[in-house]
Amino acid sequence: MVDATGMCGACMVPVNIDGKMVRKHACIDGPELDAHIIDWDKFLPRFLQFRKQEDESKVRHGFN
Ligand code: FES
Repeated sequence: MVDATGMCGACMVPVNIDGKMVRKHACIDGPELDAHIIDWDKFLPRFLQFRKQEDESKVRHGFN
């Protein structure tokens, strides 16, 4: 989370409610969200977008 106010969108989770895509924010709507309504196809690419940099950082700091 970046600002934890619902303003930056960094923690946005796309969910499906009654067939409509709705953006939830983990900081203000969570931290728990019903995993059954999360649109994983939209969420996972966003969630994993910095995976390469995270892995490089783990190696650099001895956490591999
Ligand atoms: S942390 Fe910025 S919107 Fe949730």
